[in-house]
Amino acid sequence: MNQQPGLVVRSVIAGCGSALPHRIMTNADLSKIVDTSDEWIVERTGISARHIASEGETTRTLAAEAARRALDHAGLDASAVDLIILATATPDQTFPATATLVQADLGITRGAAFDVQAVCSGFVYGLTVADAMIKAGQAACALVIGSETFSRILDWTDRGTCVLFGDGAGAMVLRAETLPDTNASPGLLVSRIRSDGRYHDKLYVDGGPSTTKTVGHLRMEGREVFKHAVVNIASVMEEAMALANVRPGEVDWFVPHQANRRILEGTARKLGIREDRIVMTLDRHGNTSAASIPLAFDAAVKDGRIAKGDLVLFEAMGGGFTWGAVLARY
Ligand code: UT7
Repeated sequence: MNQQPGLVVRSVIAGCGSALPHRIMTNADLSKIVDTSDEWIVERTGISARHIASEGETTRTLAAEAARRALDHAGLDASAVDLIILATATPDQTFPATATLVQADLGITRGAAFDVQAVCSGFVYGLTVADAMIKAGQAACALVIGSETFSRILDWTDRGTCVLFGDGAGAMVLRAETLPDTNASPGLLVSRIRSDGRYHDKLYVDGGPSTTKTVGHLRMEGREVFKHAVVNIASVMEEAMALANVRPGEVDWFVPHQANRRILEGTARKLGIREDRIVMTLDRHGNTSAASIPLAFDAAVKDGRIAKGDLVLFEAMGGGFTWGAVLARY
């Protein structure tokens, strides 16, 4: 690509939006279904409530709503979009990609739309792919969406997992802009994604089209996942910051995947991050997998905490294992 010296193409975050199902399920509601308590869930996870999709609310409908709000926030018409990447592990159908359903809902007939599957790391993977396509000149305006309805794949008799997850969607609009090549310019600065498939059976779904011909239910060895989470997340965050020559103290906001308060606190301690710099929505959203980062980002932008010009670090770890981090100047 022809560029003026000192200028680069950046994927600038032009807007964000989110959508949550109407129904809220509290820890007290859950204690009527399984042998658990508000005290245990809050102490071990930090979660107090989560939103649960009702009939008619699906990954597609939540994603389309979040996308519309993100486009409104960016002041853009859907016709500007030439790429939709939807991160989800709970698509409406095995195929076609839910991204194409959202594309149709938004009335977009150009460009490309596809899903990425990296479970809880899906949004970081989606941002990374969108950024690479924008930098390669293959897209000029991308919608990156994380949307999940994990309530549909939970085993509601397994107290070790059903108390952790919730449903929801979040979206970001990324626009190509040619800007000076410095950390002060807005846009995605560094993306790093990783996976290690040796751990595929630590967090998985026990069904699928090619094996059981069923959807299956989520299964997790919680303690094993927890053990790897802090180490993997801290290492990829450090790598992303080092690549951009940024120290933890220079990052204005950490917007992590919301899996467990203790994981976030452990990572913060390891890297010397102040806890008041971490955006947490875990208490009211639970773990919404690929949707948790854009849901948290949208909440903190809309309540005025994250402002234009702030340096933001996104990070996630999920089934696979997959993990990754993205450093961006908003
Ligand atoms: O988003 C993708 C990544 N996912 C994660 O990062 C999740 C990582 N893992 C975790 O967050 C934690 O491991 C959990 C929150 C899932 C579990 O916390 P833990 O402190 O690791 O608990 P544990 O699984 O070791 O279980 C401790 C005890 C057990 O009882 P015993 O064997 O000590 O008698 C469990 O049976 O807590 C029991 N328990 C519960 N008790 C009340 C497990 N779930 C519940 C529950 N309510 N919901």
